[in-house]
Amino acid sequence: MWKQAIEDAVQKIRKNIEGHPGLFPHITEGNRYQWGENNDWIEGFYTGMIWLSYQYTGDEFFKKAAEEQVQNFRERLGNNVALDHHDIGFLYSLSSKAGWIIAKDEEARQLTLRAADKLMQRWRPAGQYIQAWGPEGDPKNGGRIIIDCMLNLPLLYWAYEQTGDPKYRDIAAIHAEKSRRYLVRGDDSSYHTFYFNQEDGTPIGGGTHQGYHDGSTWTRGQAWGIYGFALSYRYTRNPLFLDTSRRLARYFDKHLPEDQVAYWDFDAPIEEGTPRDSSASAIAAAGVLELAEHLDDKDPDKAFFQDAAVRWMASLVRNYSTMSMPEAEGLLLHGSYHVRGDRGPDDFMIWGDYYYLEALMRMERGLKGYWYE
Ligand code: GLY
Repeated sequence: MWKQAIEDAVQKIRKNIEGHPGLFPHITEGNRYQWGENNDWIEGFYTGMIWLSYQYTGDEFFKKAAEEQVQNFRERLGNNVALDHHDIGFLYSLSSKAGWIIAKDEEARQLTLRAADKLMQRWRPAGQYIQAWGPEGDPKNGGRIIIDCMLNLPLLYWAYEQTGDPKYRDIAAIHAEKSRRYLVRGDDSSYHTFYFNQEDGTPIGGGTHQGYHDGSTWTRGQAWGIYGFALSYRYTRNPLFLDTSRRLARYFDKHLPEDQVAYWDFDAPIEEGTPRDSSASAIAAAGVLELAEHLDDKDPDKAFFQDAAVRWMASLVRNYSTMSMPEAEGLLLHGSYHVRGDRGPDDFMIWGDYYYLEALMRMERGLKGYWYE
């Protein structure tokens, strides 16, 4: 089943490249990707899918397409197009860093290091965190961290490995520890965001941006945490990060509905038509595969999380994928972007497609994505 799902995905990616040259999928409406320029937080996921397709097939068609996109990312950084946010980690890990990992392209490595420096500019020494959104000092966002940032940190850890300069690792590890302390709650659920006093870093309180309410558990945030803390463990070997990933993953699994694919928020009332977030389940599946890699063979959680990934992915492939829809541009139906904001409440999500393919490739081929070398 995994192989069939991958081959269907690779075929769709090929068709998308041919059908939309030079363009990237944006937030979708009505299950059709809107195609546009490289100017949002999500474009790297498409490039990452093209790199995965190249690694899977060895077909130069995909390599050429991915390299063209890396060039586009080079221009984007040079012109500073919509990069004043923390998602530089997503954008450049899956584009130029992947290019370095796969093709050992030195220019791609240099570009990725420049992107890491750009992300470092979001470090706020007074509060000791990486600011997610908005300009420094912004009254609303200046003191805000968000759990999604856990997947941006690998860019900084990687920059430390490449340069030997500890500032990248130290800042990433301090931010990860702050996220562990303030975004993860005692019952293993999570806040989407947390606010600090910008002047001195005093904690103020948790909140949400895309979740159901301030104290709820936004499903995708929980999934970012599962994968992100496992990756912070990979780089730092801090056992608290491994434990946090494990706790978040158990909570995620325990709160799934019967068909094993998450609703958009674990606290949203379940009624006829409550949106799912298939992208959260895809991220969580890739995340528990990473988590399981760090668990001892004798630890019963290892088999538990490997089985959980199979359970969740089997439902995604059977019940949510577009395998029976040859004309579809996306891979996974029923993702949600911002349900309360009525943006893409029930559509394809390019990051859902990326993590779905990454998880499939981890299970089928041992290909691990581009968060680490
Ligand atoms: N990182 C933004 C999101 O998950 O919607």
